[in-house]
Amino acid sequence: MSEFIEVENVSKTFKVSRRPAGIPGMIANLFAPKYEKKEAVKEVSFQIGQGEMLGFIGPNGAGKSTMIKMLSGILCPDKGSIRVGEFLPYRQRKKYVGNIGVVFGQKSQLQWDLPVQDSYELLRAIYAIPEDTYQKNLNQFIDMLNMGAFINQPVRQLSLGQRMRADIVASLLHSPKIVFFDEPTIGVDVVGKQVIRDFIKELNRKEQVTMIFTTHDMQDIEKTCERLIIIDQGSKMYDGSLQGIREKYGTTRQLDVEFNFECEIAPFHHVKVQPLKEEGHIKKRFIYEQGQVHINELMNHLLTHYSIRDINITEPDIDELICKIYGGEV
Ligand SMILES: Nc1ncnc2c1ncn2[C@@H]1O[C@H](COP(=O)(O)OP(=O)(O)O)[C@@H](O)[C@H]1O
Ligand SMILES: [Mg+2]
Repeated sequence: MSEFIEVENVSKTFKVSRRPAGIPGMIANLFAPKYEKKEAVKEVSFQIGQGEMLGFIGPNGAGKSTMIKMLSGILCPDKGSIRVGEFLPYRQRKKYVGNIGVVFGQKSQLQWDLPVQDSYELLRAIYAIPEDTYQKNLNQFIDMLNMGAFINQPVRQLSLGQRMRADIVASLLHSPKIVFFDEPTIGVDVVGKQVIRDFIKELNRKEQVTMIFTTHDMQDIEKTCERLIIIDQGSKMYDGSLQGIREKYGTTRQLDVEFNFECEIAPFHHVKVQPLKEEGHIKKRFIYEQGQVHINELMNHLLTHYSIRDINITEPDIDELICKIYGGEV
C-alpha cells in the first residue's frame, strides 16, 4: 500500500533581492534588480502513514515553515512532488483546503476585535460546517483546552498561550483528518506549552488525525512524537525515532570520577581525560566512545590504580546530540 503522504525530492528556492546600499544603489536596482538565490528546501523526501504524528525540528531558517507551506498547498515546490492522500496540494488547492487544518504559530486566523466564538461562527459559515459537527467539535475542544474562561473575550485581550489555543481550535472545527502545525508553542509559557502538547497528542491518539508539526523546541518533540525529522539548511539530516538518535549518535560516554587525592592519570586506551574544577573536590572527566572502551574494563582499571571516592556515568543529553547533528559534526 502506498503511504498517505508522499514527499519526493522536493526543493524550493526563493529569489531574494540584493539591493546595493544608498540612493545610487536604489536607483540602479530599479533598472536592473539584483537577486540572490536562497535554497530554503533541498531535495527532501519522506513518507507518512495515515494517523501518524511527525515532528519537524530544526534551527531558525532551516526550512520548516517553507516545508509546511508546500504541504498545505500555499507554496508550490520548484522541483519534486507532494501528494497528500488523494490530493496534489498546490494544484488542487481549493478542494484540498477543506480537508486539512493549518496552524501558523506566528500568524493568527482569528479576527482581532471579535470575541473568539464570533470568529468561529465566521469560520463555520466559510467552511460550511454542519451545525452538529461544529457544536460537537467546539464543545469538545473548549473542554480539552480549558478555554471556557476566554471564549467570549476579544482576541486582542488574550495572552499568547490563550490565542494559540484559540487558533488551534479554529483550524479543527471542520474535523480535518490532516493537520499541519507550524511552531504551535512558540512564545508560549511552560504551562501553556504542556496544555498544547497534551492536546495534540490526545487528538492524534483519539481521532487518528495525521499530524505534522514543526518546532525548534526539543521538549515539544520529546513529549509528543515517536518520529522526528531533523532539518538543517534545507536538507533532511535525520528521519527516525528519538531513541534512534541516541543509538546512532549518542555513543560518547563520560565518566566523572572523584578522587581522594590529587593524582596523575596514566593514559588508558582511547580515553580522553579532562580535569573538572569543583571546589574542595578532586574530579576528572573520562570521555570515551562506547564501541572502543568497555565500561567494566575502565572501571576496573580506575579502581585498582587510584583511590576513588565516587563515580558517575552520564549519557549525552538529547539536545546536545541534536545540536551536533545540526552542526554537521556527526
Ligand atoms: N518568502 C520568502 N522569500 C525569501 N526568502 C524566504 C522566504 N521564506 C523563507 N525564506 C528563507 O528561506 C529559509 C527558510 O525559511 P523558513 O522555512 O521560514 O525556516 P524556518 O521555518 O525553519 O525558520 C530562510 O533562509 C528564509 O530567510
Ligand atoms: Mg518557521
